[in-house]
Formats: sequence, C-alpha cells, structure tokens
Amino acid sequence: MNRSYDFSGRNVFVSGGTSGINLGIADAFAAAGARVAVMSRNAERVRAAEAQLARHGGEVFGQAADVRDYDGVHAALAAAHARFGDIDVLVSGAAGNFLAPALGLSSNGFKVVIDIDLNGTFHVLRAAHEFLRKPGASIINISAPQSYNPAPMQVHACAAKAGLDQVMRVLALEWGEHGIRVNSISPGPIEGTGGVQRLVSEARPAVEGRIPLRRMGTLADIAHMAMFLGSSDASYITGALIPVDGGVSLLGGRNYARPAEATAPSP
Ligand code: HXC
Ligand code: NAP
Repeated sequence: MNRSYDFSGRNVFVSGGTSGINLGIADAFAAAGARVAVMSRNAERVRAAEAQLARHGGEVFGQAADVRDYDGVHAALAAAHARFGDIDVLVSGAAGNFLAPALGLSSNGFKVVIDIDLNGTFHVLRAAHEFLRKPGASIINISAPQSYNPAPMQVHACAAKAGLDQVMRVLALEWGEHGIRVNSISPGPIEGTGGVQRLVSEARPAVEGRIPLRRMGTLADIAHMAMFLGSSDASYITGALIPVDGGVSLLGGRNYARPAEATAPSP
C-alpha cells in the first residue's frame, strides 16, 4: 500500500468478491480492518475467499447468490446488514464476459452478459439502498474502458458496461441527497484475473506494448482506488468514472482488441 487506510469498524460488501479484482478489493479492505462480506454464485469459491480474507483477523461473511436473482441479492444484503450493521462501502463487481463477434452471439448470449453486468448491478444497488449508511455510504461500480471505447468481439460487455455507467450517474443524482456517493472504477487489463485470461490471448509483451504505461495493472492498483473512494478523502466525489488503466482509455477499443479476430464471425 502507498498509504495506509484505517477501516476499523466499517462494513464493506463486495458482489463478485470471490476472485480477481473484486477479491483484491475485499482483501485490501479486510487488511485495513473492515468487516467484509463477499457474495458470488459458487459456494466453494465463497468459502475459499472467506478463508483468504479471514487471515487478516477481522470479521468475514461469505454468501452464495447470483446477482441475476433480485430476491437472493436482497437476502444476502439483509443478512450482511443483520450481522455487521449499516454498509459503509458497497462494491458491485460481478461480471461475465467472453469474446464473440455479434454474428456469433445468440440472443441469450447477449442477454446473459446484460443480465449479470447491468441488471445485476442495478439489483445490487437497488436492494442495498435500505442497508447503506446514510449519510456516508460509498458505492463503487466496476466498469471497464469498453464502456466508452467500442471493442470488437464484446458488443454484449460494451453495452452492459455503458449502461452501468449511466446507472452510476443517475443514482449519484438521486441518492446524493441521502448522503450516498456513487462512482465507478474503470480498470485496464489487470494481470492474473479471469478477465485477462478470457479476453487476452496474445503474448504479454504485445499487449503491454500497446498500453501507454507499458505494463498491465495489478490488483493493488485497483484496490488503492477503491480504498480512496471508500474513504473520507473522497467525500466530495460522486458521479465519477475513474480510469485506473495505464492510459488504455486513450486508445480506441479496436487498437486494443486483436485486429485479426475483430470482424471474423465464429464458425
Ligand atoms: C458465444 C457464448 C459463449 C462464447 C457462452 N455463450 N459462452 N456464446 N461465444 N464463448 C452463450 C451460451 O451459448 C448461451 O447461449 C449463453 O451464452 C449463456 O451461457 P451459459 O453458459 O448458460 O451462461 P452461464 O452459465 O450463466 O455463464 C455466464 C457466462 C460465463 C458469462 C457465459 O462465462 C460466466 O459465468 N462468467 C463469469 C466469470 C467471467 O466471465 N469473468 C470475466 C469478467 S471480466 P445459448 O443461446 O446457447 O443458450 C470482464 C472484463 C471486463 O468482464 C472488460 C470488458 C467489459
Ligand atoms: P473474475 O476473476 O472472473 O471474477 C468475477 C467474479 O464475479 C467472481 O467472483 C464470480 O464468482 C463472480 N460472478 C460472476 N457472475 C456472477 C453472478 N451472476 N452472480 C454473482 N457473482 C458472479 O473477474 P475479473 O477479471 O477480476 O473482473 C472483475 C470485475 O472487473 C468485473 O466487473 C470486470 O468486468 C471488471 N474488469 C476486469 C478487467 C480485467 O482486466 N480483469 C478489466 C476491466 C474491467 P462466481 O463464479 O462464484 O459467481
């Protein structure tokens, strides 16, 4: 950590918090003394994340639920609230993605990513409102540069993340008067994550050669921004989409995608 935050006595809930970027965020808050609840579909993954987070010595609460199921999400948030109290930091990070040209996507293939990323985020934020600390809560959505840089092979994820950014802005407007801040982090390619595994098959030097800062990001790069947004240092920031991406947002999505695959329909 470049600077140490103290989140003792604070309550953090992370949807999709059992792997990759979201687990990195959960881990950073746990290390800073927060009580941390994580939620994702796979019960084994939930248990493994709980074990990782518990090493910091604080209270941890893992639950299995799918962000596509509003009642399940509401129940998970209610249970976390019953256990910890008002939620100070809510991270909505669950997402699904795969590479496919539009002509290789069925209606259901498009819908599944919209359901997880966009509808799932609305479910998490809508269901959480009654359990958030008011005033004082910070909501952090995990977006992506694809929300404003169109990227071939990702029409589903680009549409979902663009919608998610508008959800963030509208709720920042509506919930500002409740003392709730709503922001998004837009990570560049983060090493060692499910996203990079699924979306990047080129050799690492080729990918890093196109990133202005010439390296992939780390879990800590994103966790630092999440802790800043969750802290009182960010108390006048709402409605912001913050790139933490080594400059990838300055490139067009097509420059960043693999050109050979950009237009080829799948068999
Ligand atoms: C074309 C595909 C496909 C593929 C699935 N589908 N994979 N179509 N090419 N490679 C289609 C299926 O055929 C099916 O349509 C529909 O999608 C639903 O598939 P299911 O397997 O039934 O869905 P489900 O089990 O719910 O799994 C959801 C998933 C899966 C999104 C498909 O990959 C998943 O669970 N992902 C979670 C983890 C993840 O993706 N992490 C990366 C996040 S990174 P039919 O018509 O056959 O029924 C990330 C990077 C950010 O988001 C940067 C970009 C914004
Ligand atoms: P990841 O490792 O694949 O993790 C995704 C997490 O979401 C897992 O914990 C998964 O657990 C959970 N999840 C998936 N579908 C879910 C559902 N329907 N309901 C509840 N939980 C669900 O992903 P990642 O690559 O770290 O990406 C994390 C976030 O960062 C995503 O929002 C992604 O779009 C964004 N992002 C990533 C990158 C990158 O470089 N990786 C770049 C830009 C943006 P279960 O399987 O147990 O459900």
